[in-house]
Amino acid sequence: MARLATDPAYYDDPYPSYEQIRADGRIVRNGLVGGTVDHAVANAILRSDDFGTGAGAGELPGPLQRLHTLTRDPDTLSPVDPPSMLVVDPPQHTHYRRLVSRAFTARKVGRMADRVEQVATALLDELEREPTFDLVSRYAALLPVAVIADILGVPDAEREQVLGWGNHAATTLDPGLSWSQYKEASAALREMNAWFSMHIERLRRDPGDDLLSQVLQDPEAADLTEVELHAIGLLVLGAGFETTVNLIGNAVALLDAHPDQLAWLRDNPDGWANAVEEVLRYDAPVQLTMRMAHSDTEAAGQPVKRGEAILVYLGGANRDPEVFDDADQFDVRRPNAGDHVGFSAGVHFCMGASLARLEAMVALRALYERYPDLRVVGRPERRGTRVLRGWEHLPVSTLARVPTI
Ligand code: HEM
Repeated sequence: MARLATDPAYYDDPYPSYEQIRADGRIVRNGLVGGTVDHAVANAILRSDDFGTGAGAGELPGPLQRLHTLTRDPDTLSPVDPPSMLVVDPPQHTHYRRLVSRAFTARKVGRMADRVEQVATALLDELEREPTFDLVSRYAALLPVAVIADILGVPDAEREQVLGWGNHAATTLDPGLSWSQYKEASAALREMNAWFSMHIERLRRDPGDDLLSQVLQDPEAADLTEVELHAIGLLVLGAGFETTVNLIGNAVALLDAHPDQLAWLRDNPDGWANAVEEVLRYDAPVQLTMRMAHSDTEAAGQPVKRGEAILVYLGGANRDPEVFDDADQFDVRRPNAGDHVGFSAGVHFCMGASLARLEAMVALRALYERYPDLRVVGRPERRGTRVLRGWEHLPVSTLARVPTI
């Protein structure tokens, strides 16, 4: 667990380490924190009322709580700082979640399908004359970015700027930033928070058809503070960003490595939905989360003390052989691929799950319909992040292979 937290060589390919943890027990402790790669234990902890996100600092000893409060700068609020709903517990969490989920219903997401299709087509049109390109920066990253900008009602002229800040906001989802990354991220967050204040004011005066306008008009949102509204916007921006990019990139890399499965999908396009689930299972874009015990409790039949933190390795739980046969095999036809915990579980289950599924399915189907011979070439480069797993660069060629004689 310590190696996974600190050594890039291990988080580059965390799966062998997950198996070592699995061999050591259902919950493993290293003196500092506990960790689990067990699917049932992960689910139990994520769904338990005895565990919370811990970020509210309520369980920290008094002096540390004070330090935590004093060192927080409200102008550099990031998607992982309270009051982001990702890191607060019920009942505060329930209030925020209800407000946002009303604007994020399955029906509303379904209505975005045409727009996602349009964006994918336009991006592929632009690539038409380029036989090789970086799949991440030219396609996988641009699609979710356009969708999120729509959701937040960002005017066209401001999109590029906001998305630049959003990239920095997304890096803060990964703990352990270097000092220079931290400084860059907090400068960007400061500018972005100032922009949010202006944007919220503008949407209050002139509401649009976007999620943020809907939240602002909701009578239940009347008592939300400026900081709470920023937190909602920032989280949607940060959470909907790198994660979906990574899902699309991971899918292309995996399908490239399994051409027989890609060929099967070409003949069976109805299989794309399950293929997306299998990518989420096999190479989860969010590899881990953490929970802290609110009270003395138990998990996996072991006592857990109040304040004890447990790392829940979502990527490891997704390879649990108790749940998935041949768990280390990538198989787009796996019948129970959807049982993964790639979107977490319990009250924090990803609110953007159906949107992410829609985006990935549309992006992949459109990509391979346009370029049936697409293949990875050159030197793909992984992102240097631990929690978020994906590709920084994935060079691809759309040209048919020249047959060798
Ligand atoms: C492949 C894409 C995505 C993955 C793998 C993913 C994964 C996750 C995970 C694992 C969590 C919960 C973390 C925890 O339990 O501690 C989460 C929460 C969340 N996600 Fe996603 N996400 C994705 C896309 C999106 C998108 C597109 C949006 C919105 C546009 C979004 C919005 C959120 C929000 C608002 C939460 C917080 C929910 C809460 O705390 O109640 N996500 N996501």
